Amino acid sequence: AVLGHFGQQELLFKILVVGDYGVGKTAIVRRYTEGKFSSNYKTTIGADFAVRSIDWDSHTKINLQLWDIAGHERFGYMTRVYYKYAVAAALVFDISRIATFRSVKKWLSNLRETVTLPDGSKIPIVLLANKCDIKEPSIPNEQIIKFCKENEIGSWFLTSAKENMNINEAMHYLVVNVLKSK
Ligand code: GTP
Ligand code: MG
Repeated sequence: AVLGHFGQQELLFKILVVGDYGVGKTAIVRRYTEGKFSSNYKTTIGADFAVRSIDWDSHTKINLQLWDIAGHERFGYMTRVYYKYAVAAALVFDISRIATFRSVKKWLSNLRETVTLPDGSKIPIVLLANKCDIKEPSIPNEQIIKFCKENEIGSWFLTSAKENMNINEAMHYLVVNVLKSK
């Protein structure tokens, strides 16, 4: 932590956003950092990052650095270099595509194997069931809840980058848990 002018402390949290291609990782990051959404799909190459600063309380400013990791198979192991020093992660799937939910397990073990906090403990992870604005047969909540219990995922949210649903809430959850783990 850096103590700035007037005793303000400024923290930097690196947060990963992972999951299969096309689930909406870039859309979530863009919604959260720029307040925008586009229905055009341009796949992410390698990784990207964007920052949003939040005035957490009267003496704490938090800079959230969101790392938007390419979901495509072909970037596989290469993208793991971006995991270093991350303190939390959002694991995203597309509620309208069951295959992306099946992949969550793979992304999770990938994260658990690659990144831990400096003291060796697990980083907080939140599961995001994105595109909840799409009204189509989707994955039942009970199945998601069961998965979270079995895999020690603290919380999950139905999100929509398009309709701006629960994105702020999910990031807030992560920040609270990063602060707890400090
Ligand atoms: P990769 O970069 O290839 O790993 O994919 P990504 O996870 O970054 O997906 P991206 O954010 O580019 O979104 C893929 C497509 O889904 C785009 O056409 C988005 O506009 C659309 N999309 C993203 N989020 C939502 C959402 O909440 N609702 C709906 N309806 N569409 C969404
Ligand atoms: Mg992307």
